[in-house]
Amino acid sequence: MSILPNLMPLYFCDMERINKPENMKRLFLIPLMLLATLVGAMACSEDALSGDGQEQTAPGGNEEGGNGDNEDAGNVEGNNDRYLVLYCSRTGNTERMAQTIRSTLDCDMIVVEPETPYEDDYNAMLDRAQAELDAIAQGNYPAIATSVESFDEYDIVFIGYPIWYSHMATPMQTFLNDHAGLLAGKRIALFASSGSSGTGTSERDAATLVPDAVFEESLLLTSSTLGNMATRIPQWLESLGASREEADAPDAASLNINIIAGGQTVTATMEDNGAARDFLSRLPLEVTLEDYNNGTEKIFYPDPELSLEETPRGCEPHAGDITIYEPWGNVAIFCRDWPESNSLIKIGHIDGDGINLLQGTESMNVRFERQ
Ligand SMILES: Cc1cc2nc3c(=O)[nH]c(=O)nc-3n(C[C@H](O)[C@H](O)[C@H](O)COP(=O)(O)O)c2cc1C
Repeated sequence: MSILPNLMPLYFCDMERINKPENMKRLFLIPLMLLATLVGAMACSEDALSGDGQEQTAPGGNEEGGNGDNEDAGNVEGNNDRYLVLYCSRTGNTERMAQTIRSTLDCDMIVVEPETPYEDDYNAMLDRAQAELDAIAQGNYPAIATSVESFDEYDIVFIGYPIWYSHMATPMQTFLNDHAGLLAGKRIALFASSGSSGTGTSERDAATLVPDAVFEESLLLTSSTLGNMATRIPQWLESLGASREEADAPDAASLNINIIAGGQTVTATMEDNGAARDFLSRLPLEVTLEDYNNGTEKIFYPDPELSLEETPRGCEPHAGDITIYEPWGNVAIFCRDWPESNSLIKIGHIDGDGINLLQGTESMNVRFERQ
């Protein structure tokens, strides 16, 4: 990898530009970015020499990273469909993190690219990045050339980006803004590279853009830690419980489930009846729960309706009970006690005071999954 293109613009800086306040900020960043590039380049050649069998370049990848000049650069289809790695990268540091995650998990990977490639001229690129961040602050997202139809099959979506002026790089902000609905309820693991800045601001960017996702602990590698990628990434993946091995199949007989909403998880125990077993067989399931009767129930309509074979009818619902209202075929989770009805069928109960998570009249995105 040549670092010359990144060094060249420095020699041509003129003092008038340097003295402007925005350029002072830029000058502060330049040493960080150069350091990141140098260490990234060293990490790359170290890895290449180590012969550890991990991929160094994605099929069709190029030295510039996802700079938009090769439409399929970085896109890989893996054998493990439980994970997806999405990333954007300009000089290749985040791209190498993405490749290491992808090859460790043997999963799919997609590069998020700007519709218009970033300028080769370094200062022009910095100006554009700042202008795009300013535009995003006004609600105007720069166009990207990447979209994904569905994330349904993935347990965890890994999202990687460089830090730009403390924020998530703009192409990934656009991607999250475009796909917020599809990512609701998903487990998202952020990873980032920077000169030295932390991920706090970019994590807040992500939480604002996809408020209904479940964010895992994120990973940052800086210019001084990029060289440790080969050990840091497997450790991080292990802490997330992500591996290329088949996950232990959930105990088919278990009646215990997790209910995840707004980044919090509560547990529930399902009944041992036909409708509950049909419900369990559909997990993981992501739905939007709507209010019914002014905070009394949270409901959704399974499609197709749950089978009622071998299921006793009638119950007196208590707060936390998961039921079916037979005439309409909807699932109704009771947020408060309610009188007995022959039309209600109990299929489970949220443990302890977990029902507090669903209280209120707001609709909410919820994921049900087996434990
Ligand atoms: C426009 C721009 C802004 C940047 N802002 C920061 C910053 O605020 N803090 C920092 O530590 N590094 C900053 N950097 C450095 C990059 O985050 C760092 O070099 C990163 O590893 C680049 O990742 P990439 O190779 O995947 O593009 C910035 C780089 C660019 C191009």
